[in-house]
Amino acid sequence: MKVFAGEVHCLLGDNGAGKSTLIKVLSGVHQPSEGEVQIEGKKAVLDSPRAALESGVATVFQDLAMLPLMSIKRNFFLGREPTRSLLGIRVLDEVTTTKIAREELKKIGIDVRDPDQPVGTLSGGERQCVAIARAVYFGAKVLILDEPTSALGVNQAAMVLKYVLQARAKGLGVVFITHNVHHAWAVGDTFTILNRGRSYGTFEREQTSREALLEMMAGGEALEELSVELSEMAHQDQVKAQFEAKKRSTPS
Ligand SMILES: Nc1ncnc2c1ncn2[C@@H]1O[C@H](COP(=O)(O)OP(=O)(O)O)[C@@H](O)[C@H]1O
Ligand SMILES: [Mg+2]
Repeated sequence: MKVFAGEVHCLLGDNGAGKSTLIKVLSGVHQPSEGEVQIEGKKAVLDSPRAALESGVATVFQDLAMLPLMSIKRNFFLGREPTRSLLGIRVLDEVTTTKIAREELKKIGIDVRDPDQPVGTLSGGERQCVAIARAVYFGAKVLILDEPTSALGVNQAAMVLKYVLQARAKGLGVVFITHNVHHAWAVGDTFTILNRGRSYGTFEREQTSREALLEMMAGGEALEELSVELSEMAHQDQVKAQFEAKKRSTPS
C-alpha cells in the first residue's frame, strides 16, 4: 500500500478485516512479521509510537484518541507542552499552552471558551477534530485516522470529513480508515480494500465506484446471500398476508 502527499487514501474493510492491526504496524505499535515500511523511499524502523511520530506519522487511534478527563489544551499537546524556566527548573508554560491551543482550535472552527475544561465536554466529532488539528500543528506528513466517523451522527461526521479535506489541502497524506463506503467515497482519492487480513487491491477513484467498493468489502457473496434472504422473507410475508386476508374474508 502506498500513500502519497496531498491525497486521502481510504482503507476499507468490514469489521475484523485487520484495518486497526495494519495501521498499528504503520504507527509503531506492532512490528510486522513480514514486509517493511518505507518513508520517502527509505526503510523506516518504527519500533515505537514515538519513533513513528518523529518520522512524521501521526495516528488518531480508534479508542484512545483523547484522555477524557484531561483538559482540552493538555490533550492538544499530550506530552509536547511548551515549557519555561522557573528558577532553573523547566515547568509547563500555561500561558503559551492556552494561547496556542485556543488559536489552533479556532483555525479549525472550534471556539473553545475555556481550553482548561475537560476534553470529555466536547462532542465526539469535535474530539476527532482536536486530534486532527494536533497532528497538523506538529507537522505530520502522514495522518492516520482509525474509524474517526464510525460513532458519529451525520452532522458530526460531515464536520470530521471537512477536516480530513483540510489536512489534504495542507499537503498531508491522509489514511482514512472506515467501514462506511459513503464516508470513504465523500473524500477518498484512492481506496485499498482489506479482507480477512489481506489486501483485495488498491483502486483509484476513476477506476471504481461506490457500489464496486461495497461489493469488494463484503467479499461479494455475503451481500448476494443477504439479498436472496431478504427477498425470501418478503415472499413469506406476502404469503402470510394473503392467508390472513383469506381467513378474514371467510365467515366463521
Ligand atoms: N494480517 C493478519 N493476519 C492474522 N490476523 C490478523 C491480521 N490482521 C488482523 N488480524 C487479527 O484479526 C482481528 C481483527 O483485526 P482488527 O485489526 O481489529 O480489525 P478491524 O480494525 O478491521 O475491525 C484481530 O484479532 C487481529 O489480531
Ligand atoms: Mg478497527
